[in-house]
Amino acid sequence: MHSKTFFIKTFGCQMNLRDSEIMAQLLGEKGYVETSDSETADLIILNTCSIRAKAEQKVMSLLGVLRKQKKRNPNLKICVAGCVAQQEGQQIIERMPHVDLVVGTQNIYELAELLKEKKQQTVATSLVDNYSIPAFIPDLGKQESEVGPVVFKKFLTIMQGCNNYCTYCVVPYTRGREISRQASHILQEARALVDGGVKEITLLGQNVNSYGKTNNVIEGNGSFSFSDLLRQVASIPGLRQLRFTTSNPKDLSDDLMRCFAEVDILCPHFHLPVQSGSNRILSLMNRKYSRELYLEKVAALRSYCPEIAITTDMIVGFPGETNEDFEETMALLEEVYYHGSYSFKYSDRPGTRSSAFEDKVEESVKAERLLRFQTRQDEICLEHNKKYVGQELPMMIEKNDGDAIVARTGTNHLVHITGEVNSCKPGDIATARILHAGHHSLQGVLKK
Ligand code: SAH
Ligand code: SF4
Ligand code: F3S
Repeated sequence: MHSKTFFIKTFGCQMNLRDSEIMAQLLGEKGYVETSDSETADLIILNTCSIRAKAEQKVMSLLGVLRKQKKRNPNLKICVAGCVAQQEGQQIIERMPHVDLVVGTQNIYELAELLKEKKQQTVATSLVDNYSIPAFIPDLGKQESEVGPVVFKKFLTIMQGCNNYCTYCVVPYTRGREISRQASHILQEARALVDGGVKEITLLGQNVNSYGKTNNVIEGNGSFSFSDLLRQVASIPGLRQLRFTTSNPKDLSDDLMRCFAEVDILCPHFHLPVQSGSNRILSLMNRKYSRELYLEKVAALRSYCPEIAITTDMIVGFPGETNEDFEETMALLEEVYYHGSYSFKYSDRPGTRSSAFEDKVEESVKAERLLRFQTRQDEICLEHNKKYVGQELPMMIEKNDGDAIVARTGTNHLVHITGEVNSCKPGDIATARILHAGHHSLQGVLKK
């Protein structure tokens, strides 16, 4: 009998990427085989994102295409997982009757059991407050053989959900209340990754700095913070690089910033989403920090680690954003001089507080502001990149196809390297001399 095959398409953030890996492993344990050919798969899983309207539209249009595939192959099972699944639940099946299974963000561990259900369609989207994330030991062996190249870097989810309720954001509704995983589970998972050959781990959470604040993460009553966790993960022998994402500026502790001076393997890159440069808009967004406090944190980070690259997320055209507010965003970009940023047009999301705010900004104005922000950010990226020319920098090799190597610096810059490339494999740390800077990458030559 042929093994059933599955195909997963992942949208959205790293949390979803990690959840897709977990689903793949759980299915593998039940005898399913992952395939990269969606046309012949017996099961297609869409792991979805609903952060902006566009992300959700992509899912809906792909589901439209899959309707035809299911007509050709009535045995095909279609599963919708992730944040759209959590938010829309039953409505997905009402709009898209060819969907077999809707799996919420806390239900992925039940996936294999849910697939066995004889019912025609199943919706499993329970979201509870006192949920404890199961211990989960990654099986790199299986993932490696199916997905291909050596696995040298991995994401590790340390917490789920969010309690911040920024007024524009769906995450507290799609991922539920903030829950931190047990420290022992995280350390066990990290050790298993390193034993399996992983050289770089990125710790994941919507707001890692509040790790351990809403529930007990160690045995007994002691307190254990994100920086405690970070230091313990960093001390695992064999791990070469450590990163984390994301951190709300309001909770960024001095202790965490100090880690950039004290923890050797912590990469000098900090993604610190600001969202707006205007205090009035920050307050409407319920971000709970001011521009001034944000700038203080940036200055402190740079004093602990002068070479640190700071990146951000920015929203333009939040309801009520005036030209003056937007100018403050542009001024903040100049002041921080970000190494990079993700910037978005504000998008109304169902159930969020800001979707009911007045003074929505016109699409054309949002588009103009976004273009202006991104154009200036691109110039600034080039300015930063030019400073690396002539320097010799350590970097982790990500890909080596025999002719050219792609590597990534600790500051998260991509480098295309030439030279004696034969000896390098993904996960190695090499040094290259930077010869040329572009807007989005660097070129270098390997140092012997
Ligand atoms: N937890 C992270 C953010 C996760 S969402 C944090 O607080 O930093 C990733 C980014 O999507 C956000 O930082 C924000 O810039 C953007 N985003 C979220 N909701 C949005 C919306 N309704 N419209 C436009 N951008 C949005
Ligand atoms: Fe969304 Fe704010 Fe939570 Fe980030 S901190 S996930 S933007 S509610
Ligand atoms: Fe999207 Fe959900 Fe991540 S909305 S950004 S997939 S937490």
